[in-house]
Amino acid sequence: MPVQATTNIWHNGNLIPWDKAQIHVMSHVVHYGSSVFEGIRCYKQPSGAGVFRLTEHMQRLVDSAKIYRMPLPYTVDQLSAAVVDVIEANGVAPCYIRPIAFRGYGEVGVNPIKSPVEVYIANFPWGKYVPGNDGADVCVSSWSRLAPNTMPSLAKAGANYMNSQLIRMEAEVNGYSEGIALDVNGYLSEGSGENLFLVRNGVLYTTPLANSVLSGITRSSVITLAKQLGIEVVEQALPRELLYICDEAFFTGTAAEVTHLRSVDRILVGDGTMGPITSALHEEFFGIVNGLKADRYNWLTPVNVKVAEPVGA
Ligand SMILES: Cc1ncc(COP(=O)(O)O)c(C=O)c1O
Repeated sequence: MPVQATTNIWHNGNLIPWDKAQIHVMSHVVHYGSSVFEGIRCYKQPSGAGVFRLTEHMQRLVDSAKIYRMPLPYTVDQLSAAVVDVIEANGVAPCYIRPIAFRGYGEVGVNPIKSPVEVYIANFPWGKYVPGNDGADVCVSSWSRLAPNTMPSLAKAGANYMNSQLIRMEAEVNGYSEGIALDVNGYLSEGSGENLFLVRNGVLYTTPLANSVLSGITRSSVITLAKQLGIEVVEQALPRELLYICDEAFFTGTAAEVTHLRSVDRILVGDGTMGPITSALHEEFFGIVNGLKADRYNWLTPVNVKVAEPVGA
């Protein structure tokens, strides 16, 4: 889906015009991938709009920057306020929000320390991410996820997404919606931009952080919802073949939300339809984010915007 321009972008504390949010080709990030970023959704509510788990996303941005020794001159609270400001200034909701911090124009060479840190926050309309109306047909990728002592997967760094690009391109070239990567030891890891959940015999399984996954905020939300629904949740290393014999499987992510998997490597997951546990979690998740169920965990930050209809796929 092409980027839909809005009016303003937040840059280092000020709102600037969308078209002026440009960087020099010699910026460090262009050559060495030195960025950390977030993806957040703002949902339509019955009375306005709300940003989903804003503080947690901004905390993860701050954590990602810390891992890469990138000093961020803003606190979680300041960054969260900036997100609300840019959404309200643009008057665009529902929307996707993209905060990004990177090493800008300074020195040539791998060491980023003397290149300045720039922070931008954009928001724009964005619809469905993983194609497939009746569930996604996915594959296991021939690419592995990042080995733990190579690129830290708890940091949401731009450079990690070169690996994600390989996974996603291979999947789409071969006619699948998305790819699931194994970790370097051959255990299930995650999708190119989604965490992975499986259901077998009524138990909900997901891959632990030690299997090279991003600590997904939707993942943690779904775990919370599952526990409240009385569903047993197990985080453990999972073998690939569990994908072929599980009863249900789904992805979670800000972009993917809760997306049920119809098939993996052309093998139907269960009978291919969305199973009862996925359906229950799907209903809870969308009930809360769309404001149809009580926001009992205070996951939504209100924004003062006249909402448009959500953007379709
Ligand atoms: C690699 C990867 N894993 C998992 C996720 C899901 O994380 P979240 O639910 O915080 O969006 C994302 C999306 O940000 C991702 O890019």
